[in-house]
Amino acid sequence: MNKTKFGSTNIKEAIIEALRLESPVQAVLRIANEEVLVKGQKINKGDSITLVIGSANRDDSWKTYKNPNEFIIGRDKTPLLTFGYGVHACIGQQLSFNVAQYIIQKFLFNKNFCIQHVEWNDAIRGYRSMNSMKTQFIK
Ligand code: HEM
Repeated sequence: MNKTKFGSTNIKEAIIEALRLESPVQAVLRIANEEVLVKGQKINKGDSITLVIGSANRDDSWKTYKNPNEFIIGRDKTPLLTFGYGVHACIGQQLSFNVAQYIIQKFLFNKNFCIQHVEWNDAIRGYRSMNSMKTQFIK
């Protein structure tokens, strides 16, 4: 099993893995504009469909998602669904990566900065979010 450590050289891979494991957007919605058969399941024209991308990101029937509930940096070609897929995939994807990388570089790898306490809102599993993160700059 890959137990790669998180460091300044693999920030992007770590962000990808964090976004796979804890997808901020858990589901996207669609309305079928034509009848279609998906794995034997008939979807009629006009049906509402909820695509649970947060769950798909942990689908271990995909080869690259071995041990899907573990945080493993540097999985091979992980098909990340967090930003959606196809023509309506997120246009802010690259911006999000850049901002996240910038913040991690500036703060987490700054020796004068430390995270004191993180409080999660866990009320509904799958939609958890960060309530607060206490940080400190050490002079
Ligand atoms: C971690 C941050 C973000 C996540 C997880 C995220 C996720 C998503 C997802 C899943 C979709 C697809 C929705 C669907 O298929 O119905 C989407 C679409 C979109 N996102 Fe993001 N997003 C993020 C950040 C951003 C940012 C920073 C921007 C703009 C600066 C942005 C702008 C958009 C737009 C305009 C769409 C609609 C694209 C379309 O319908 O063609 N997103 N996003």
